[in-house]
Amino acid sequence: MAEPISISVQGFDDALAPTVVLLVHEAEKDQALAIPALVKSVAGFAPAIGRVASIERYTAKLNAALVLSGAADLPCERLIVMGLGKADAADKIDFVKLGGAIAGKVARGAATVVAAHAGSALSTVQAANLALGMRLRAYKFDKYKTVTKTKDGEPAPEAAEIALAAEKPAALRKALKDVASVADGVDLARELVNEPPNILGPEEFAKKAKELKKLGVEVEVLDEKALKKIGMKALLGVGLGSPKECQVVIMRWSGAKDPQAQPVAFVGKGVTFDTGGISIKPAGGMEDMKGDMAGAACVVGLLHALASRKAKVNVIGAIGLVENMPDGKAQRPGDIVTSLSGQTIEIINTDAEGRLVLADVLWYVQREYKPAFMVNLATLTGAILVALGQEHAGLFSNTDELASRITAAGLATGERVWRMPLDKAYDKIIDSKFADVKNSGGRYAGSITAAQFLQRFVDQCPWAHLDIAGTGMSSPDTETNRSWGSGWGVRLLDRLVADHYES
Ligand code: BES
Ligand code: MN
Ligand code: ZN
Repeated sequence: MAEPISISVQGFDDALAPTVVLLVHEAEKDQALAIPALVKSVAGFAPAIGRVASIERYTAKLNAALVLSGAADLPCERLIVMGLGKADAADKIDFVKLGGAIAGKVARGAATVVAAHAGSALSTVQAANLALGMRLRAYKFDKYKTVTKTKDGEPAPEAAEIALAAEKPAALRKALKDVASVADGVDLARELVNEPPNILGPEEFAKKAKELKKLGVEVEVLDEKALKKIGMKALLGVGLGSPKECQVVIMRWSGAKDPQAQPVAFVGKGVTFDTGGISIKPAGGMEDMKGDMAGAACVVGLLHALASRKAKVNVIGAIGLVENMPDGKAQRPGDIVTSLSGQTIEIINTDAEGRLVLADVLWYVQREYKPAFMVNLATLTGAILVALGQEHAGLFSNTDELASRITAAGLATGERVWRMPLDKAYDKIIDSKFADVKNSGGRYAGSITAAQFLQRFVDQCPWAHLDIAGTGMSSPDTETNRSWGSGWGVRLLDRLVADHYES
């Protein structure tokens, strides 16, 4: 697939492309919009902007665009003015979103985006965030569309070629390498979530994870034979109804100075399709359950980002890949399985499968790697959508410090989380009459009892569970995402690692 966008860097004095994007603050009452005075070549734009802005009553509100094309006295073919809102709010602007809005306007062709406003040049970080937003906005999943929507005679859509005109081009070029690493990680996660479930089963998913080897990640695939030998019977039970073999993939990135330093660990739910099994789901919307591997996709995308930018940290990524199908061989409500931890689980509802997968992978990771912390991601419960909608992921944690660091990384990246309670008092809801625990406690506090279940498979390790059923898939359009699978969590966890765990 051709990249829909390419981003390069130039200086303030270099030649402008046929399309020019200028960042402009909201004007004070009856004043003209001020254009970046630092950049000499755009001085001639002021009269045309002033005239059109007043006719269109354009006031440069944040992320609002004004497009001028073909004006006779314009020194370029097309000028796009992007609003920054009030000048005193400059440091509060989310440049990632703004970058997304710009990429939405510049869908094709060559454009120069001037990284300055009337007051000053953008900092390298601000300009890099602009570029990140552009990359995030540009991702498209259209590989299965063989009929293009271009009308007869219209040229096929070309990629956008954006040059960022910056005050310190060398520094920005360097920063853009990390931007590309993270954006590539997000796009990889999105791609995995978007792929249909006939194309991407557990084995195909594992093959995709193996491609991380190119970046220096060690990748170990545990197939069904290996999983049986290890004793992951909770995970294997979920896959019984599917002809597709279960897989667990362990990815190791050793970027710390000391290769023996304690790693951090990320664990993902990878149900490549969730029919519910014998407790089968209703038909309406079941196709969305191809996204029930968004947690695992995030872990793979995150490892891609970390390895690609050579993060100075040791990381374990672990994903449990299974397909949950109804069949003569499928697991039944009433079955009792013995998990890797030795705890027995009574299956009440075969649709509460994600926690069974995670129970064994969490136990395995802490036993084998003794990580500094484990964060798991899972499209675990419909109930988290009832509680938080699609604005926040549910955060559950046994450690306040880890929880507050994740919360802060969420605010910094816009991938926000909301902490939910863990409490012994909920345990009785999942105590089983016949086994140590049951896999469903019914409707009340559905997301909390799911988290409470997972916690029984965490042994003293600092741990956080992110329920991403609302944020990882079926995503609404935003300035920075037009993809059904959002790649949610890659940026959040990359930031968590960068801010606290790199040596
Ligand atoms: N994969 C689903 C949760 C889900 C729902 C993800 C909507 C994305 C969007 C999960 O396996 C599931 O089926 N959970 C059940 C649990 C119940 C049976 C205790 C649910 O949420 O209904
Ligand atoms: Mn389910
Ligand atoms: Zn599921």
